[in-house]
Amino acid sequence: MTPLTILCLASYEKGHDFLRACKRQGCRVLLLTSLSLKDSARWPREALDDIFYMPDENKQWDHNQTIFAISHLARTERIDKIVALDDFDLEIAASLREHLRIPGMGESTTRYFRDKLAMRMRGAEGGLRVPAFVHLLNDASVREFTERVPPPWMLKPRSMAGAIGIKKVNSREELDAFDRAFGDERSFYLLEQFIPGDVFHVDSIVYEKEILFAVASQYGRPPMEVSHDGGIFTSRLLERGSETETALREMNTRALPALGLLRGVSHTEYIRSKDGELYFLETSARVGGAHLADLIEAGTGINLWAEWAKVEVAGGKAPYAPPEPRGDYAALLVSLAKQQSPDTSAYTDPEITWRLSKDHHVGMIVASPSYERVTELLHELTARVQADFYASAPAPDRPGA
Ligand SMILES: Nc1ncnc2c1ncn2[C@@H]1O[C@H](COP(=O)(O)OP(=O)(O)O)[C@@H](O)[C@H]1O
Ligand SMILES: [Mg+2]
Repeated sequence: MTPLTILCLASYEKGHDFLRACKRQGCRVLLLTSLSLKDSARWPREALDDIFYMPDENKQWDHNQTIFAISHLARTERIDKIVALDDFDLEIAASLREHLRIPGMGESTTRYFRDKLAMRMRGAEGGLRVPAFVHLLNDASVREFTERVPPPWMLKPRSMAGAIGIKKVNSREELDAFDRAFGDERSFYLLEQFIPGDVFHVDSIVYEKEILFAVASQYGRPPMEVSHDGGIFTSRLLERGSETETALREMNTRALPALGLLRGVSHTEYIRSKDGELYFLETSARVGGAHLADLIEAGTGINLWAEWAKVEVAGGKAPYAPPEPRGDYAALLVSLAKQQSPDTSAYTDPEITWRLSKDHHVGMIVASPSYERVTELLHELTARVQADFYASAPAPDRPGA
């Protein structure tokens, strides 16, 4: 049997475990990545049959040039599958599939996983509770919204990630000022009700529309606060069978089919308001960023990147089942550090299973069969890291890791 040729798109460096798993499954693995990463990225070359570079501006590729480049490649390669490893690569992956007529998620379904307005509308149609929202398009509709829904509101670009470009708006006057500044860009934004509360994420593996694995976790401070005001980023697995965990997984089983995910992985976020109601916040058809895959692996033994590769290779034609997950608990902590190479050797708890090695960052994962122990350790370590390393930085104006 000729091996499956899989083309992976990665404008940012990520998904090493995905590439390796594809190779282990016997695929021919091609990688298209950003030229600006050529010298710095440490791709697992042993897993790649070939690597190609797109000229980029801040990791963005010209759409037509990419279509030309891959069409050229397709003169000599029969490409069976195209996979986007980063959120920012989803649209071009869909365009390439449509252009080369390669099966997989096309442009219209991709919209529900990339465009925050499309996912809001589809989620609401599918019966999910969502924050009240309006497209920044029609003046009368926007006015009707601002008169009906009290501020603060969140003003969001429809297709960004990592809380980039998201603004909290406190009044109609503030909104008008943004509106004037946006000009013709305004239709690329939506406005929605701010729901104060806790933010959660459910990370899933889906095969033929069935959710075969899902794990629910809770962010420490809401990601928006961490990226805008600084502070330590944390997340931890929720206690299995607890009220919130059960409610989140239930909502997740309604959310993913509503949005139309056939197979793959998904990182989907929810807010729990002060009165305990769950709201659908956003979804994606990819592995969660910010080391969340490492967190989930520490608690469950499931490597989402590797499972995603198996799902893609099985492709609806062969049976797929994830390994039996471990029932442990885990927590993740990541902070900017004032030291260039922060020394965490004084952190000796045996539950620490992973440490981040990155300049001016400190990060750790703790894991234990005990939920209480993980919770206690997370509190302890957050306070210690705050005292030993913590540094704040201005909000990013462009995508980070
Ligand atoms: N409607 C909302 N109410 C309250 N907080 C919100 C709302 N929308 C977004 N946020 C905050 O902003 C963060 C980023 O928003 P999100 O829609 O998840 O975009 P991103 O793709 O940047 O993660 C969320 O994690 C949350 O902290
Ligand atoms: Mg988010």
